[in-house]
Amino acid sequence: AQSDSSVKDMKGKRVLITAGKTVEPIDPVRYITNHSTGRMGYALAQAAAERGAKVTLISGPTTLACPAGVHVVSIKTTAEMAQEVDKYFAKMDIVIMAAAVSDYRIEKPAAQKIKKKSSTLELKLVKNIDILKRLGQKKKEQVLIGFAAETQNLLENATRKMQEKRVDLLVANDVSRADIGFGSKQNEVTFLRPGHEPLLVKKSDKRQIAEKIFDCIMSF
Ligand code: CTP
Ligand code: CA
Repeated sequence: AQSDSSVKDMKGKRVLITAGKTVEPIDPVRYITNHSTGRMGYALAQAAAERGAKVTLISGPTTLACPAGVHVVSIKTTAEMAQEVDKYFAKMDIVIMAAAVSDYRIEKPAAQKIKKKSSTLELKLVKNIDILKRLGQKKKEQVLIGFAAETQNLLENATRKMQEKRVDLLVANDVSRADIGFGSKQNEVTFLRPGHEPLLVKKSDKRQIAEKIFDCIMSF
């Protein structure tokens, strides 16, 4: 009965999940971001809550409804997400970075709306902190799960991320496929675990993928 939500096999577990996109302001009316809708992270939050876990969901802007029984913390920028993750991390049993985090921010967002003047406009971006990598460095008992979004060399890139970020499970996504991933209700992923062969999880609803992720973690 592994994917049966009536089984409260995560009762008492404290789970932190990040979901959706982060957005980085350019000026008061513009920003840079990515295509993430938050569906994968919200499916994880709902699955964990139904399996009895105490779930905190740190979410970027999304149109999705707040899952029942889940504590949602809304953020916009990567810096805000990092700050909220830091607040909760120490008390958690399981931490899943499902968010599509903006790797860069605008160095100096304009205080006023930028007016169109010259024919070109340069924006200087600076790197954001890697939230997951920092968690990997400071984790104690927590089980840490990361995602990888790749458009090429999936296994090679994702294996490197698993090692560099010191995660217990890395969920690798091929984001070049239109039928799965960003914006889709379905996904097909590969689970990578230190010391294990890659495991393909065939195309299925994000909720089913979420259940398989928790089945995997709960078998550790
Ligand atoms: N991540 C993070 N902080 C960042 C960037 C990414 O915590 N500043 C997390 C994501 O939430 C995901 C994992 O790191 O769980 C991998 O994200 P991904 O964008 O695939 O990899 P990056 O390490 O950012 O490398 P790149 O984008 O260059 O492929
Ligand atoms: Ca990235």
